[in-house]
Amino acid sequence: MESIMFPSSWCFGGIIGSLRWPELCLSLLTFYLIHHFVTHRNQPLRSWPLLGELPSALANIHRLFDWGIELFSKHGGTIEFHGPILSNMHVVATCDPRNIEHMLKSSFHNFPKGDEFRDIFFDLMGDGILNADLEPWKQQRKMANSLVHSKAFRGFVASNTQHMVRHKLLPVLHRLTRAGSAFDIQDVLLRYTFDNTCTAIFGECMNALSIELDSVPFTKAMDDIMEAIAYRYVLPRRWWKVLRLLKLGKERQMAEGLTAVNDFVARQLEKRKKAKGSSAGVDLLSTYASVSSDEVFLRDAAINFLVAGRDASAATLVWFFWLLSKNPYVKKKILEEQRMILAETQRDCFEIEDLSKMVYLHASICETLRLYPTVPIGQKGVVKEDVLPSGTVVKPGTVILYAIFAVGMMDWVWGKDCLEFKPERWLDDQAGLRHETNGWRFLAFNGGPRTCLGKDMAFVQMKYAAAEIMLNFEIDVVEGHQVSPKPSVIMTMKNGLMVKAKAKPNRCLV
Ligand code: HEM
Repeated sequence: MESIMFPSSWCFGGIIGSLRWPELCLSLLTFYLIHHFVTHRNQPLRSWPLLGELPSALANIHRLFDWGIELFSKHGGTIEFHGPILSNMHVVATCDPRNIEHMLKSSFHNFPKGDEFRDIFFDLMGDGILNADLEPWKQQRKMANSLVHSKAFRGFVASNTQHMVRHKLLPVLHRLTRAGSAFDIQDVLLRYTFDNTCTAIFGECMNALSIELDSVPFTKAMDDIMEAIAYRYVLPRRWWKVLRLLKLGKERQMAEGLTAVNDFVARQLEKRKKAKGSSAGVDLLSTYASVSSDEVFLRDAAINFLVAGRDASAATLVWFFWLLSKNPYVKKKILEEQRMILAETQRDCFEIEDLSKMVYLHASICETLRLYPTVPIGQKGVVKEDVLPSGTVVKPGTVILYAIFAVGMMDWVWGKDCLEFKPERWLDDQAGLRHETNGWRFLAFNGGPRTCLGKDMAFVQMKYAAAEIMLNFEIDVVEGHQVSPKPSVIMTMKNGLMVKAKAKPNRCLV
């Protein structure tokens, strides 16, 4: 009987025999990767040969927050990532409040923001307060601290906010209600805080919030930059630097955005120079220009305050209105509180001084920020090797990301009801407010020496706008609207928030 022989080029040994070494290695690697992919398909964090956890991170960047929460729930609060071989990338991500307190307070000096952070943000923020460490940060903090806590600046912010809400925000909303169709309230609120913050910084309103709601090239440029920065977080440093050099992909978007932002700030500085002597404003630029004429310093200061103050309050308000639509009981309690304040003051609408009486509204905004902290991620570098309270070893070169967005979603941090929207968490037995850091579990405004300097301003912006909108309009989220967070430096909603509004018969509309 004739024996059956496979032609040598068909059999496995034959294939191997016909391959050269590089082809053989590539084939084995491909086989291994496919096998690895198939066997680890359902794991949220896969480590790939040669590539580390980078493919997992890239595959999940569009759902960064959900992915992070899945990982932290599974791995107990602290995760380590390694980048591709030779990339020297070691990232520790944590939402463990013990680790966060250790970095932000107890060992503050061992955990500066670090070179990696500085590199990622330098193109936009230069040496400004958000991007500085050590002595340069200390000096800027002192200067910014005395500005934001000065009576003049606080008064300016208060009157500017009241004016903007009464004369711009409410009329724009009123026009939109008359048009009768659904609109994106996120767009409107982002314009409101942009104008509000620009006035605090430049002493001049940019009129993003006008009846026409024209597109604002500056805000588009900032959005593009922030999106590109989110990619820099995930890619190894050398990779995005090459892309920046070649102006490819998101780095091209970044370069175009930077040109627009720098031009905008340069124009504002130019105006300031021309107006020198004629203005004794209390806005940030006037105050800073009275002690320094260094244009780079002034540019960096202005951009840093813009980045810090532009979107976070608006984004919080958007999550707040969405949460109210899901929790009518909370809405009812805020409206009750409003009725009591108006009855007591015998007024039709609110003054800024009424904000301190709005305790339940304050608690509801804190609760919104617990679930959706609009600055979702903080970053730290390491000066000397240390062991975090969770037992994780960190060394110089390690990048630590503290996931503020995940802290509020962990049942081992906030209890079994952590996903519920309960402003009562923030109230004590006498219905007064509890201390807001809440034992290093509430980090929406950061903590320790680098606590947000704009917190008071943000609460004025948010509470006054929320109170007046709720007093004057019935806001309903459009049924079926898909809500999800946009993975970026500020956690806005990816698809905006489409609502329909009805004006209430009230007297605050001008
Ligand atoms: C709801 C609104 C806001 C939230 C959630 C928020 C949150 C934060 C967070 C988490 C940080 C730490 C960032 C970091 O270290 O990288 C920060 C820092 C800062 N924020 Fe805010 N912020 C808000 C509004 C504002 C506003 C309106 C301003 C002023 C225009 C402002 C000014 C600053 C400044 C100057 C810093 C830097 C502090 C430092 O590094 O010493 N923030 N903020």
